[in-house]
Amino acid sequence: MTAIRKRTLGNTEIRISPIGLGCWQFSNGNGLVGKFWPDMEQSAINKVVRESLDGGINWFDTAEVYGKGNSERALNDALDAVQKEDEEALIATKWWPAFRRSSSIINTFEERRIALGGRHVDLHQVHQPFSFSSPADEMHAMADLMDEGKIGSAGVSNFNLKQMKEAHETLQERGYGLASNQVKYSLLDRRIEENGILDYAKEQNITIIAYSPLEQGILSGKYHRNPDLVKKIQGPRKLAPNFRPKGMKRTEPLITLMRRLAEDYDVSPTQIALNWLIHQHGDTVVAIPGASKTHHATENIRTMQFELSSTDLFALDQMAKRVVEKQ
Ligand SMILES: NC(=O)c1ccc[n+]([C@@H]2O[C@H](COP(=O)([O-])OP(=O)(O)OC[C@H]3O[C@@H](n4cnc5c(N)ncnc54)[C@H](OP(=O)(O)O)[C@@H]3O)[C@@H](O)[C@H]2O)c1
Repeated sequence: MTAIRKRTLGNTEIRISPIGLGCWQFSNGNGLVGKFWPDMEQSAINKVVRESLDGGINWFDTAEVYGKGNSERALNDALDAVQKEDEEALIATKWWPAFRRSSSIINTFEERRIALGGRHVDLHQVHQPFSFSSPADEMHAMADLMDEGKIGSAGVSNFNLKQMKEAHETLQERGYGLASNQVKYSLLDRRIEENGILDYAKEQNITIIAYSPLEQGILSGKYHRNPDLVKKIQGPRKLAPNFRPKGMKRTEPLITLMRRLAEDYDVSPTQIALNWLIHQHGDTVVAIPGASKTHHATENIRTMQFELSSTDLFALDQMAKRVVEKQ
């Protein structure tokens, strides 16, 4: 296997592969968040995790809210099954802030640790901005955990520019800096390019962790190739605009270009979508595709073994922008 060049995670010394594994798919839970993806057997999860590690992925993104700890537990069980130590498999998890105060970051940390089988939390993130406490209070709680060596770094998710600045400045006062803002970003979702988040991240050396980088499967091109597959999707995903016939028609020109580039590079359209993400903005953006099958992981990790030319990055960028403008 080609050695993967790791990147520094934001304002930390942690080194991560440009692709991490999104573990929402391991939720096996209740409710909209827990049941969004079909249940996966632990044996299937073990295979996805093993394949990801073998392919050079060295970090995993999970969260308290993914099946109320089920995803964290399944990830730990899989890492035990493949006998990986803490330093070989870095863990990013998230605290769920709704109807809670920042003190709950500290109070719930032991639960996170137990769910993760005592493994080290390398990155702890605030999942979204809606809580009874300010970003500053939340970051003081994160800094307390860092002071005690309980977590390696602090990040946020779904924070707007103002909230992200407040978080970063608070951590700086405590002698740290913000590691990351995890936001939705893909060829088909360009909002962070317009709202100042991407520029601020570049300027302050904060990593952007792109979630839903495949637009939940649409950018694989498989639903365009066989629209009947949409009917087989379990859960609310098929109701999203991108999965409706109008949305698929709108994105068809982009998928056609991705297929052509995929042939040129002897890769798949999925790899083209992910490669654009991890190379369009230097080292700033990393991506966490989720995988419900082992072959998804196999395919997604190969993204780290080639690089689109600047001409092709530009062509994709422009085509995707035209498609997004038609929304
Ligand atoms: N912070 C947040 O608020 C937030 C929100 C959402 C997600 N996330 C994180 O981001 C991760 C990824 O986002 P996501 O799960 O929403 O979407 P995604 O990564 O864009 O899509 C994942 C889905 O795409 C399909 N897929 C993956 N690889 C494929 C391949 N090579 N070929 C064909 N299909 C493929 C699979 O679904 P099918 O096979 O069923 O099509 C898979 O479950 C999550 O696991 C989670 O860790 C965070």
